Amino acid sequence: MAANASKNVRIGIVGAGVISEIYLENLTTRFGNTTVVGIADLLVERARDRAKNFGVGAFSVDELIQHPDVDIIVNLTIPAAHAEIALAAINAGKSAYNEKPLAISREDGRKLLETAAAKGVLVGSAPDTFLGGGLQSARAYIDEGIIGEPVAVSAFMLGHGMEAWHPDPYFFFQPGAGPLFDVGVYYVQAMASILGPVKRVTSIARASFPERTVGSGPKKGDTVPVNTPTHIVGALEFESGIVGSLGTSFDLWETSNSTLVVYGSEGTLRLPDPNTFGGPIQFLKGDSRRGQKWKDLPLTYGNTENSRGLGVWDMANAMQKGEKPRASGELGYHVLDVMTAVLESAVEGRHITIESTVERPDALPQ
Ligand SMILES: NC(=O)c1ccc[n+]([C@@H]2O[C@H](COP(=O)([O-])OP(=O)(O)OC[C@H]3O[C@@H](n4cnc5c(N)ncnc54)[C@H](O)[C@@H]3O)[C@@H](O)[C@H]2O)c1
Repeated sequence: MAANASKNVRIGIVGAGVISEIYLENLTTRFGNTTVVGIADLLVERARDRAKNFGVGAFSVDELIQHPDVDIIVNLTIPAAHAEIALAAINAGKSAYNEKPLAISREDGRKLLETAAAKGVLVGSAPDTFLGGGLQSARAYIDEGIIGEPVAVSAFMLGHGMEAWHPDPYFFFQPGAGPLFDVGVYYVQAMASILGPVKRVTSIARASFPERTVGSGPKKGDTVPVNTPTHIVGALEFESGIVGSLGTSFDLWETSNSTLVVYGSEGTLRLPDPNTFGGPIQFLKGDSRRGQKWKDLPLTYGNTENSRGLGVWDMANAMQKGEKPRASGELGYHVLDVMTAVLESAVEGRHITIESTVERPDALPQ
């Protein structure tokens, strides 16, 4: 790890698609501890455009991964390429930070962690929304005991998927994406970071539509085959004994029931949408049928706007101080393990015990 406390950590971004814009914005101007050396993409023109707009270098993927001035490769490629790009970076002696999910198989996820440990570099993984002001504040309220002892959690992410607006929605309907890996991942990671690791899971799943139609951009009208479940309902048992219900769907038109709620022995906390960095947080003390009313709670942490890249900022901090990153590969691996087991359980019709575990990442300083 080349970084030290007095120097910015140097970033190379691989993947110049939709999400790269906000990363470039935040990593070039917002977080004071990172310098973006350059960007690369299989589609060279895309990387050149982004490079021009943000005043950074444009490189071939291999050039950037081997670049002597890069400390962290931020991997914003499609999920199926996450492991390959991160492994190349790690083998080149760089730390790697993947967009979610960490990888699309446990085997690839383990390989990343093991190779990084052998090379003495770090692995990190999005989502980093749990570091935002909304979820950090919610965690603090729960840790302070506002709802008493947590007993249950429900996480529902319901919608119709991305084919209407994303210009290239193919990957959303392939293994490694679908509603659980693509968006449910925010809910699973928020739960693991706030309530701790999951011990076992069970589920039922289906894919209601065999293909999807692209709704915007140059590929408008093309059809996309659906090769992964798109409606998944599961139950999670946490190591703490908390019981969770999890529903993720790209098959429904009704989205207003998408929520993350933690139920405690004395009250209930509605958490923010974990695919965002801000609020709101609402608290109910006691029983709503006996006159108790929901109350909005103030956010007590910053980073409430679109702070994608916060996990890279934290990893850069960790490198400078010799600490552990919060959006770590270990957390990303546990989340991958849980999501994989949820899909396996639907196929196998049985509970699946989760082999991995992880410590809750430390809360951010307030
Ligand atoms: N779009 C969003 O709103 C969003 C939000 C949060 C996270 N993400 C995550 O970010 C990642 C990228 O999503 P996106 O929406 O930007 O996708 P995208 O399809 O717009 O961009 C992906 C880019 O990666 C490039 N790429 C693919 N394989 C590559 C390889 N082997 N080497 C180099 N480049 C390669 C593609 O050419 C493309 O430009 C995904 O993991 C996704 O889950 C996306």
